[in-house]
Amino acid sequence: MFQKVSDKFHRKQNSSGKPIQVQSTPGKPASQPQSLVHETHTQPFASSSAVLVQPMAVPVQDRNMSVQMADARDPDEDERIREKAREAQEQAAQAQANLHNATQQARVAAINAAAAQAALDPSSAPAAAQTVRKTAGRYALADFHIERTLGTGSFGRVHLVRSKHNGRFYAVKVLNKEKVIKMKQVEHTNSEREMLARVRHPFLVNLWGTFQDVNNLYMVMDFVAGGELFSLLRKSQRFPNSVAKFYAAEVALALDYLHSLDIIYRDLKPENLLLGADGHVKVTDFGFAKHVPDITWTLCGTPDYLAPEVVQSKGYNKSVDWYALGVLIFEMLAGYPPFFTEDGNPMKLYEKIIAGKVRYPTYFDALAKELLKNLLVGDLTKRYGNLRAGSSDIFAHAWFAEVDWDKLYRREIPAPYVPKIDGEGDASQFDRYQEADVSEYGKEGVSQWDHLFGSF
Ligand SMILES: Nc1ncnc2c1ncn2[C@@H]1O[C@H](COP(=O)(O)OP(=O)(O)OP(=O)(O)O)[C@@H](O)[C@H]1O
Ligand SMILES: [Mg+2]
Repeated sequence: MFQKVSDKFHRKQNSSGKPIQVQSTPGKPASQPQSLVHETHTQPFASSSAVLVQPMAVPVQDRNMSVQMADARDPDEDERIREKAREAQEQAAQAQANLHNATQQARVAAINAAAAQAALDPSSAPAAAQTVRKTAGRYALADFHIERTLGTGSFGRVHLVRSKHNGRFYAVKVLNKEKVIKMKQVEHTNSEREMLARVRHPFLVNLWGTFQDVNNLYMVMDFVAGGELFSLLRKSQRFPNSVAKFYAAEVALALDYLHSLDIIYRDLKPENLLLGADGHVKVTDFGFAKHVPDITWTLCGTPDYLAPEVVQSKGYNKSVDWYALGVLIFEMLAGYPPFFTEDGNPMKLYEKIIAGKVRYPTYFDALAKELLKNLLVGDLTKRYGNLRAGSSDIFAHAWFAEVDWDKLYRREIPAPYVPKIDGEGDASQFDRYQEADVSEYGKEGVSQWDHLFGSF
């Protein structure tokens, strides 16, 4: 049974798993979708005054009096006091939670601010980065030996290449101009280049530069040697709670960093999450990443990972990435996504996504399930990441309680799985693909479409 389900989710052989894209409807107006207190000590008065006041011999009559007085107290008044105490306790607990959220949010915001600063500051790039970045835009295919294919997607093919100059290995994504135009991906392709060039983060793939020839566009990235999280997940069937949490936490930091720059990622899935040689996450494929300060309408992404508002062609915002994080966590814990159809019929899948009824396996950690219920929710007024506290509702969630976000950002938390890599250019963690005819690559000249890809 499990194997069957697992096979169903080999999205790569399943057309419904491909990213989809439908033209956007820009300009449509839409409503924008949408925690101190020190531990309150119990009132110490009664007991402390009891210590201070010497016991007195009380006349019998007085005792009676006091009994009578107590009897005379209004029971409603007592209830009111108890109610007030309850309210105060609730307020204190809420304030405590708010403080925790605010602290987590401040930590993550500081991490994002430092990362954003580092992206602007060329001197913070590693030495090798500076050498290559200087030549960005001035590479040519002749600078590299093409070794093999690392992966293919709907729009591109990624090759392992070796620099003839420094002997180092890189990954080069090649996009055919004519295909990009036919598939109406011109804007997305330019955006992919622009967004990738803008970011620098420990959990995002690094772009060294781009170039073009008469037929193709090329993006030179770090070669991320550990392979796709997808392959590791399918091999493992599903991840233990702590392993899923580790990858989810690194991805969450990367998404939050992108969002801090008003970039929506829009194609989260294990195929686009690579593992470095040290086992830490590198998010690749910025094909749908876009600068969106508020709201957008384009129907794009991978069906299993689409938020209901995207499926319904409503305007949507960054919180589609938090929904997709929910799908990812679910898929890592279960080995299959929360919504799927046996026959791969996308319409049936979309109906399920909109209906939003998730069946949680009983073995799910209770806190994971609690977080997922708040991520995989269609109602945007309830989805974590889209509420008043923003992403801190996610970072401060109890499932992530033991995560030290600063250490995580610095990659000081050891990865749960370190890929076996034999030297710098070892691509054995990647599936084999039929090799492309690369003789078409590198042809010089001008094409009729060059004005469309000026930034490459
Ligand atoms: N920097 C990299 N290092 C190693 N492998 C990579 C790198 N970037 C991409 N790949 C591999 O190539 C595959 C395809 O790349 P990418 O996802 O960018 O293409 P795509 O056509 O945009 O895919 P999709 O169908 O998801 O839109 C990835 O899933 C991954 O296996
Ligand atoms: Mg991809």
